[in-house]
Amino acid sequence: MTSTSNNAGAVTSNACGPLTGRVTVPGDKSISHRSLILGSLATGKTRINGLLEGEDVLCTAKAMQQMGAKIERLSPGNWVVDGVGVGALSEPVNVLDMGNSGTAARLLMGVVASAPFNTFFSGDASLHKRPMRRVSTPLTKMGATITSRSGDRFPLCVTGCDLMPITYELPVASAQVKSCVLLAGLDTAGVTTVVEPKPTRDHTENMLRHFGAVISVVTADDGSRTISYQGQQELNAADITVPGDPSSAAFLAVAAAILPGSDVTIENVGLNPLRDGLFETLGEMGADIQIENIRMAGGEQVGDLRIKGGLLKGIEVPPERAISMIDEYPVLFVAAAFAHGSTIMRGLEELRVKESDRISVMAAGLKACGVELEELEDGLIVHGRAVPPKGGATVLTELDHRIAMSFLVLGMAAEQGVTIDDGTVMETSFPGFSALLNGLGANISGIQGS
Ligand code: S3P
Repeated sequence: MTSTSNNAGAVTSNACGPLTGRVTVPGDKSISHRSLILGSLATGKTRINGLLEGEDVLCTAKAMQQMGAKIERLSPGNWVVDGVGVGALSEPVNVLDMGNSGTAARLLMGVVASAPFNTFFSGDASLHKRPMRRVSTPLTKMGATITSRSGDRFPLCVTGCDLMPITYELPVASAQVKSCVLLAGLDTAGVTTVVEPKPTRDHTENMLRHFGAVISVVTADDGSRTISYQGQQELNAADITVPGDPSSAAFLAVAAAILPGSDVTIENVGLNPLRDGLFETLGEMGADIQIENIRMAGGEQVGDLRIKGGLLKGIEVPPERAISMIDEYPVLFVAAAFAHGSTIMRGLEELRVKESDRISVMAAGLKACGVELEELEDGLIVHGRAVPPKGGATVLTELDHRIAMSFLVLGMAAEQGVTIDDGTVMETSFPGFSALLNGLGANISGIQGS
């Protein structure tokens, strides 16, 4: 897991003092994708404020333009989408390049499944390894044809047609799969239903309502949700303000929590209850974390997070919480490395099929930095020693933005800092990560983006 190569894209995070200041983080990635997609399918102009201009979201913007939507950047974060209306996309003349983005890939496969043409999809080496059967199975049940590389992997082609509505019970708790099926149902006559045994992030449902559609969500006593959508409703353009991404705020929160003396406020963070598991977990580990100024904006809960540095203790994280913080485990592993005692994190099998196998890639990098741990099939046990890990390694990021940022956070508080081999991957979700952290007192050097 360590490398001695002198890579031009390498970024080094050196040990630093406390972090202090008030900041905002870039817009929420999940909401940004959905605002471009649903804005493109609505009738009229949707103004988006605070759009994340990371590479993943730009892939979605380009794809929707290739299918006829007019999308324009007015100023940083301010975009306007002139939608074509439900059922009015045009055939893209070229392959849709999804880059590194599993969300763009799976949501857009659902969007084009009801369109009467072939859509070809490709992406980067990481995306080409990721499982697509989880979306091709329901789309095929609805009547679409998916022609893919073996194992239902990218590149692939979706041949759309008039679909049949289905009732689909999610075999894996995934907001991407839920959203894929709901988006396939947008232009499908009849009622498309998704049953999710455990609730996953509900940004698609919230935004459909924001665009004037009627969507029924029934929560059963056991917590499962049944989401039903009557297809072929018109979507009406509506302005959207994208909150700061809690998954990006997570890196700042952990960095502040593990650096004694820190006092950082992150304003305007999305605090959808299906996304806030990390903040609850850090609180249980003893972090001084306060949520202030809670309010609703554009159908989503937002607030300001104030985090002060101090001592953390190891805990057992309830596996059922994983769903509300799935993208935050890499940086939680880092927090656990600075805690006193062991932190047990299980129920994380989905982490193995993210942008990288986040359990094994994190385990290898943490070991190289001197962290004691046990890798499990479904998680990680990190044995914190209440003294900073030695660090000093060069860690391979495996085309995974969250691995990159997690190790830069570790480097801030490790004895000898940490180098990552490739800082460009952070452009996926968090343009300006290094500069923002340096503004708070970090000491990160090297190139982040291109
Ligand atoms: C996302 C859902 C999650 C998450 C991903 C974004 C979304 O993936 O990990 O980063 O925007 O719907 P899964 O649906 O695979 O859990």
